[in-house]
Amino acid sequence: MSEETRAGSAGAGPGTITPDGCAVEMYARMGPDGEQHIVAGAVRAGARTVLELGAGAGRVTHALLELGFEVVAVDESPEMLAEIRGARTVRSTIEGLDLGERFDAVLLASYLVNTAGPALRADLLRTCRRHVKDDGCVLIQREGEGWHDPANVPRELLRGPLRITVAAVEPLGPGRTSVRMEYDFDGRRWSQTHTSHDLDEAAVEAVLAEAGLRVDAYLTDDRTWLRAVPQCAD
Ligand SMILES: C[S@@+](CC[C@H](N)C(=O)[O-])C[C@H]1O[C@@H](n2cnc3c(N)ncnc32)[C@H](O)[C@@H]1O
Repeated sequence: MSEETRAGSAGAGPGTITPDGCAVEMYARMGPDGEQHIVAGAVRAGARTVLELGAGAGRVTHALLELGFEVVAVDESPEMLAEIRGARTVRSTIEGLDLGERFDAVLLASYLVNTAGPALRADLLRTCRRHVKDDGCVLIQREGEGWHDPANVPRELLRGPLRITVAAVEPLGPGRTSVRMEYDFDGRRWSQTHTSHDLDEAAVEAVLAEAGLRVDAYLTDDRTWLRAVPQCAD
């Protein structure tokens, strides 16, 4: 496990574990789950450039490249970025990123808006705003409401050979839960614990507005993916 593991996050299992508890090998082996089509369906016609924040091992990056997007992949983990082929990679925290460039789409997926506490979340969203073109969009994936209700845990999801288990939840205080996930990939096992912060639609819209972004659509039936646009585009 990395010595720099972030407060509230931990990970265990074979290979390198990132500061937020993710297993590099597992993300490198996992394929996309349709995220590329959500992105392709959400951007304006002719959009080409995508800034992917927290890109990990390129699970979604590679699928976006195959669709013809030009992707800049950002992650704080060099071991994750080393798995990426065909995209420009930038090793940086998301909150500290300032490329001086703007993109047709900025992608903040993997529930990073929920795993970040309020101050970090505001910084992540300011990074999104700083890097999106005036006629571009920011695409965000957030957790579904009730996902960490103890009544829904444990629960299991199968993704091909990967079994993902939401194994345990523990309330930490109002709106904050510690979540323990387990992953089994062909007998290779990892676990990850992270803090999840509740973020209902009103809360996510408010925090985006503070960053200068306006939610203009929820993109999936479960409303976990949303599109936001710069407020100056109004
Ligand atoms: C759950 S993984 C998801 C990776 C990828 N988005 C995917 O779906 O396969 C989260 C990734 O975000 C990175 N990450 C988390 N917080 C970060 C931060 N504040 N700055 C930069 N990278 C971060 C981690 O290193 C990890 O690679």
